[in-house]
Amino acid sequence: MDTKKPKSPKSEKSKVAKNLKEFFIDSLKDIYWAENALVKTLPKMFDQATDQKLKTAIKDHLAQTKEHVTRLEQVFESMGLKAEGKKCLAMDGIIKEGEEIMEETAEGPVRDAGIIASAQKVEHYEIATYGTLAAFAKTLNERTALDLILKTLGEEKKSDCLLSTIADTNLNSQVVDGKLQSKDLNAV
Ligand SMILES: [Fe+2]
Ligand SMILES: [Fe+2]
Repeated sequence: MDTKKPKSPKSEKSKVAKNLKEFFIDSLKDIYWAENALVKTLPKMFDQATDQKLKTAIKDHLAQTKEHVTRLEQVFESMGLKAEGKKCLAMDGIIKEGEEIMEETAEGPVRDAGIIASAQKVEHYEIATYGTLAAFAKTLNERTALDLILKTLGEEKKSDCLLSTIADTNLNSQVVDGKLQSKDLNAV
């Protein structure tokens, strides 16, 4: 007979979010960590990229990412809180995967394709996160936070579209020029 007591549900622990507002704040800490991690990662991607349009897009997005950090600080402030980060396991994984891709690809069009793939994973994660945060802010009637989050969400969507355009136009033209094999792009 199994005499083991069932484990306490996580919701009984003191550190867990007990309501939507607490979960919203936890999620803000998570994306605050993620944006700060990207500020450190984007320069590495810039150095590794060779395509000029891609390099410009990464450079511009670094400036935007720094603004996203500031905007999140304003979100915390609007709620009377000090900005604080909490390790985002998902972004940590996406960044590590991106570093691995850069190590495992030859410099040039193939590595550029890998960098675009990684950057788009980052953007999609951010779009999903800010979309959710916007819904939470709306439900919680945090109007200032909502405006700031929507502004960032719009920029993330634009960045994703720009990366798609670079992938479509530039990388496909590399295939036409024979610098890249079309089979190389199948992975993107
Ligand atoms: Fe961002
Ligand atoms: Fe982004």
